[in-house]
Amino acid sequence: MKRSILVLFAIFYTGIGFAENDWGKTGHRTTGEIAEKHLSKKAQKAISELLEGQSLAFVANYADDIKSDPDYRKYGPWHYVNIAPEDDKYVREKANKDGDLLQAIEKSIAVLKDKNASREDKKFYLKMLVHFMGDLHQPFHVGRGSDRGGNDIQVRWFNEGSNIHRVWDSQMIDSYQMSYSELAENRKELTRKELKEIEEGNLLDWVYESREMANRLYDSVEIGEKLGYEYMYKWFPRLREQLHKGGVRLAKVLNEIYR
Ligand code: ADE
Ligand code: ZN
Ligand code: ZN
Repeated sequence: MKRSILVLFAIFYTGIGFAENDWGKTGHRTTGEIAEKHLSKKAQKAISELLEGQSLAFVANYADDIKSDPDYRKYGPWHYVNIAPEDDKYVREKANKDGDLLQAIEKSIAVLKDKNASREDKKFYLKMLVHFMGDLHQPFHVGRGSDRGGNDIQVRWFNEGSNIHRVWDSQMIDSYQMSYSELAENRKELTRKELKEIEEGNLLDWVYESREMANRLYDSVEIGEKLGYEYMYKWFPRLREQLHKGGVRLAKVLNEIYR
């Protein structure tokens, strides 16, 4: 009896058996924090008013927090988008009828732009948008449907059983042991040209960019492979770049909404 309680507690506490959790808290906060630094004065003011002083980093995990509430279950498929391998491009007619990451971002932007939308709806969709722009830059959130974006590709992370999706969501970031504000800083200032290059394009371009990166990552891992320091050394700089791109592009989207 005592033993089974202990096992249950261990399962709960370690999160074994729980669904994946996106960039993980630190990753999403990093993207929110970077976006905050690139907001226009006008966007800053409007957002601070809507969020009643809370920062983008603070609200960045709201879309994950609500997952445990049955009333919000329908937003589950909004965290990722899978393009069929036979398709070159995103085909709207074939898209998930329950929504996907691209539709989620489009919906959030539409509500924020809608003069007739309620303040409550705007607040909700702003928080969702901050999160989803982060998800868009986690390559495995634009991965293959057949392996649920890498969730079914088992690997070992140091000495622990894991999967490649989870390694990218949170395990590399957590292993680095830096706070979101430290991750948002400690980077060379982008030149205007670099900034412009990141800002270039639209939502679909960014979907394709993540999909391409996911394909490269699929090719760089073997099922059951033991990943650790070497994998971190190779990929963590790219992971940080993804967090950064997410932040800069979130700011771009928000600056366009609050022009
Ligand atoms: N999480 C759950 N299912 C997923 C999928 N098909 N792609 C990416 N992330 C997911
Ligand atoms: Zn995830
Ligand atoms: Zn998510």
